[in-house]
Parts: sequence; structure tokens; C-alpha cells
Amino acid sequence: MHLDHQRQSSKRSTSPLSIRARTPQRSLGIPRMLGTVCLLLSFAFAAPACDEAESDRSPFAMPATVPAPEDNQPTEARIELGRKLFFDPLLSGTNSLSCATCHNPGLAWTDGLPTAVGMDMAILDRNTPTIVNTAFASSQFWDGRAKTLEEQALGPLTSPNEMAENLATAIGELKAIPGYVELFEEAYPGEGIKAETIARALANFQRTIIATTAPFDRWLAGDSSAMSESAVRGFEVFKGKGACEKCHSGFNFSDGSFHNIGIKQSAESLEDLGRYVIVPLPRMRGAFKTPTLRDVALTAPYMRDGSYATLMEVVEHYDRGGDDKTNLSPDIEALNLSDQEKQDLVEFMRSLTGEQKEVPVPLLPR
Ligand code: HEC
Ligand code: HEC
Repeated sequence: MHLDHQRQSSKRSTSPLSIRARTPQRSLGIPRMLGTVCLLLSFAFAAPACDEAESDRSPFAMPATVPAPEDNQPTEARIELGRKLFFDPLLSGTNSLSCATCHNPGLAWTDGLPTAVGMDMAILDRNTPTIVNTAFASSQFWDGRAKTLEEQALGPLTSPNEMAENLATAIGELKAIPGYVELFEEAYPGEGIKAETIARALANFQRTIIATTAPFDRWLAGDSSAMSESAVRGFEVFKGKGACEKCHSGFNFSDGSFHNIGIKQSAESLEDLGRYVIVPLPRMRGAFKTPTLRDVALTAPYMRDGSYATLMEVVEHYDRGGDDKTNLSPDIEALNLSDQEKQDLVEFMRSLTGEQKEVPVPLLPR
């Protein structure tokens, strides 16, 4: 199947993705939700965060724009084409799986499973990450093997195993549907239906999947009633005693970097080497990309192998300083948190979850 960007076994074939120079980034405007909140709140509350210029805003404040590469700027036609492709099972070898099968908008763009289930019900060995805010990520996948969203989609679509064949099939199938021919022409005039235009449209759609304003954002903007006292205390633990911010930093709660946090390797599968496969430096062994904590209350189970069912289990993991100490990050050590502090951390993470929007399933051209 050509959606095999997940690892099928622990021996991942070495990446088909070459390292490319970063494409220059331009921006696309998104609604200034926070700005509006600030404006309204500044009448009722003293809201110092709102008065600050863009440049001295809190590092935790969501930016007003989403970066997009120069050569794939968003247009309505590109986004709508990407939306259809994202929901279209035609893209899989047996026409049975769409991106949305695993990145289900009803489940915060995850599948709710410990690890993904692929073609023929094969159980893959990594957890499906949410794609919320992945537009802001400096790399894609748990091991960061794709730089951009364009590359992320192109990798699986063109990798030189059986997928390549399926891709030709998928392209043939799309070309046979006049509705798609028209949509591609509108989105990428004169370029036709090919791997690159499919990948670029998918990237455009995914750049619209942005976290909505969470209680934390309202609180940050000055609405002191937006978070419970427990969550506010949890934020202090997050930045202080818990040292979570060392890695889960900034508005997306990720440093975009790779760390080994001491997750037990599963007994059944071979060791997942993580980032080491891409960058064979010893400290990258068992290191994975710091995931975003946006919408985290809805993206269980947690970790690259889905080994924790609840946020409390995650907090317990950090509190005991991880399990597997081989190559453990120096930033992970036992925390000795009180029960109250653990609960507060969980409450804080819940406050990072925004209200979910209904996502209509598009009509697919046939
Ligand atoms: C069978 C389930 C499945 C399907 C179908 C699927 N994905 Fe994924 N997706 C995953 C898994 C599992 C990962 C993590 C793989 C890894 O890191 O090795 C992932 C990772 C990603 C990421 C990286 C996110 C991040 O935070 O690093 C993006 C973006 C993505 N998928 C988009 C897509 C698109 C676009 C499609 C359709 C072309 C698609 N996925 C189809 C399961 C799936
Ligand atoms: C050394 C860097 C580092 C520190 C410190 C750290 N994390 Fe993480 N966090 C990560 C990485 C890397 C992962 C993914 C690890 C994996 O799956 O192997 C992760 C995963 C998570 C997840 C699972 C998210 C998901 O979608 O699966 C949560 C929740 C989380 N961390 C919360 C916290 C909290 C709370 C703290 C502080 C007590 C903390 N982290 C401290 C790097 C860190």
C-alpha cells in the first residue's frame, strides 16, 4: 500500500526521503482569535499580555500566521483539493484506506489506537500522531524523517517498493475522474495529476488543521477565570519542578527536537531506534520527536508506541524518571512530585485542549 509511511516492522527500510534545503517560508493569515480575545478582555481585565507588541508576546501564545513554502502558497482551490484527497480512499492500494481513516477528525485527527492499523489489518508499530498544528513542526514523523509536509506526503507516495506501482494506479484512477482533472487544473494549472501535485495539495489542506483557542490561550490572554486553580498551579509545575518546558516549549509545546525519555521497549517487537536511523549519533538512539501537547486530552493513547492510556500514567512515567535508562536524556530524572502536583499537571495539560469543530466529510468526485 502506498500509505506505508508508518513503520511496518522495526527494521524500517532506510528512508526514501533525501535531505533538502529548507524552502523559504511565507505566511498565510489565520483568524486573529487571540487578538480578538485580547481586545474584548482588555475592557474587563487588566491584560498586560495583550498590550505587548507581537515580538514580545508570550512564547506560549499561538502565532497569527501559518508558515507555507514560497512554491506552494495556499489558495482555496488547493486546500479544497487537498481536503478531498485526504478523505479519499482511492489513494490507497486497495481503495480502502484514506488519510482520514487514521487521522480521524472526530478523534482529534488520530485513530485512538495504541499503534496504527494499516492495510489488511496489519498492526503497525507506531502510534498515529495528531496532525493538529503539524504545519508548525520543523520536521514530520516521530523520527523527523521528512522535513516538510510536501515531502511527508511525497515520501510514501513515491517510495520505490510496491507503492510506486500503486501510485501509478492511483494517479491513473484520479485521471479517469473528470471532477479531479478539473480540480487539479484549478489548483495547479498546467501541472496535471502527479505525485507532486497530490502531495502539495495534501500539504495545503493539512496547513489548515490548526489548534483552536484553548482555555490556556484565554488565560494567557488575561482571562483569569479560563483555567482552574489546579491548572494554573500545573503550569508552574510544568515550567518549574517538572521541567516539562525543557522539551515541550513554546506555543506548540514542542522544541521540535528528539529525546530518549526512557520508554520501555516492547518485548514483542525489535528495538525502535527512532531518530538514530536518520541521524546515527549515539544520543539519538531511542530518541523521538517531542510531540505537541495541543489537544492532548483527546489524543490518547500516548507515546510513539501508545503505551500509556491516560495523562496520569504519562505524569507517573516522568515522576519516576522513566523506565529504560539506556541512553536516557539527561533532562529526564525522578521528580518526586506530590499527588497534588501530579493532578495539577494533568489539569494543566487538559487546559491545552481547544473546543473541537465539526469537520464535514467532503463529497468525493467519481
Ligand atoms: C494506516 C494509518 C495511517 C494512514 C492511512 C495515514 N497515516 Fe499519517 N501517520 C500514521 C502513523 C502511524 C504516523 C507516524 C509514523 C512514524 O512516525 O513513523 C503518521 C504520521 C503522519 C504525519 C506526521 C505528523 C507528525 O506530527 O510528525 C503526517 C503529517 C501524516 N501522517 C499525514 C498523513 C497523510 C497526508 C495521509 C494520507 C496520504 C496519511 N497520513 C495516512 C498513520 C497513518
Ligand atoms: C527530555 C525532553 C522531555 C521532557 C523533559 C518532557 N518530555 Fe514529554 N515527551 C518528550 C518526547 C520525546 C516524547 C515522545 C517520546 C516517545 O514516544 O518515545 C514525549 C511525550 C509526552 C507526552 C505524550 C504525547 C503524545 O501525544 O503521545 C506527554 C503527554 C508528555 N510528553 C508530557 C510531558 C510532561 C507533563 C512533562 C514534564 C513532567 C514532560 N513531558 C517532560 C520529551 C520530553
